[in-house]
Amino acid sequence: MNKILLLGPPGAGKGTQADIICESLSIPKISTGDMLRSAIASGSELGKKVTDIMNSGGLVSDQIIIELILDRIGQADCANGFLFDGGIRTVGQADLCVENSIEFTHVIEIQVDDEVIVDRMSGRRVHPGSGRNYHLVYQPPKNEGVDDITGEPLIQREDDMPETVKHRLQVYQDETKPLVAYYQSQESKSALKYIAVDGSQPVEIVFQDIKQNFLIE
Ligand code: AP5
Repeated sequence: MNKILLLGPPGAGKGTQADIICESLSIPKISTGDMLRSAIASGSELGKKVTDIMNSGGLVSDQIIIELILDRIGQADCANGFLFDGGIRTVGQADLCVENSIEFTHVIEIQVDDEVIVDRMSGRRVHPGSGRNYHLVYQPPKNEGVDDITGEPLIQREDDMPETVKHRLQVYQDETKPLVAYYQSQESKSALKYIAVDGSQPVEIVFQDIKQNFLIE
């Protein structure tokens, strides 16, 4: 069974690769970002709690995240595996996963330089209902401004403004990058497989690299 975690800075292409991998393996994508954005859109108590922190590019608390994750992976469609689209952002969250018996079989780090990321974020457009990502230049929708599958309008995310992106990159360095060493060190002690791929290549090549370097069953 595949229990996959995608790691990488904001805009590395986690969501993009997540959609392709999940389709090829027929497993659900779990995106804490999408779940939190849905909570905001619905006006729920959780949504109200996290709006400011998300819009400013900060991280939501570990406790909120682990509750969201446990609720999601308890659902029937996760019984045969799942993929976390960047859902673990701190060592505290990784420890909480272990405490709650959530173990990953594969960790895939997508590496991209900061300059590429700022360019990608400014051109990103998202279908809010599904979380599908597009880029005005690198991955445009078939028809301008609308989702390929539903025909619904695409939006620009609040946290994709250049200053917020810079803050998110710093938060990644401070809070999330330590997970690279955390999971690499687990490779020798467990069945976990860890690889890093060059995410600055075109979308299809990144996926080919993941497939070739990382025999996902
Ligand atoms: P989240 O929604 O998870 O955002 P993120 O991790 O910052 O990542 P992004 O979705 O911005 O980027 P991505 O790597 O998925 O790239 P994408 O495929 O879209 O989280 C948002 C917020 O929620 C966080 O800031 C935090 O506040 C909160 N949060 C979520 N989880 C949390 C947690 N566990 N703990 C605490 N807080 C949490 O690609 C980007 C663009 O590039 C797209 O336009 C795409 O079309 C394009 N692109 C992708 N790949 C390529 C390529 N190879 N070549 C050219 N263009 C490409």
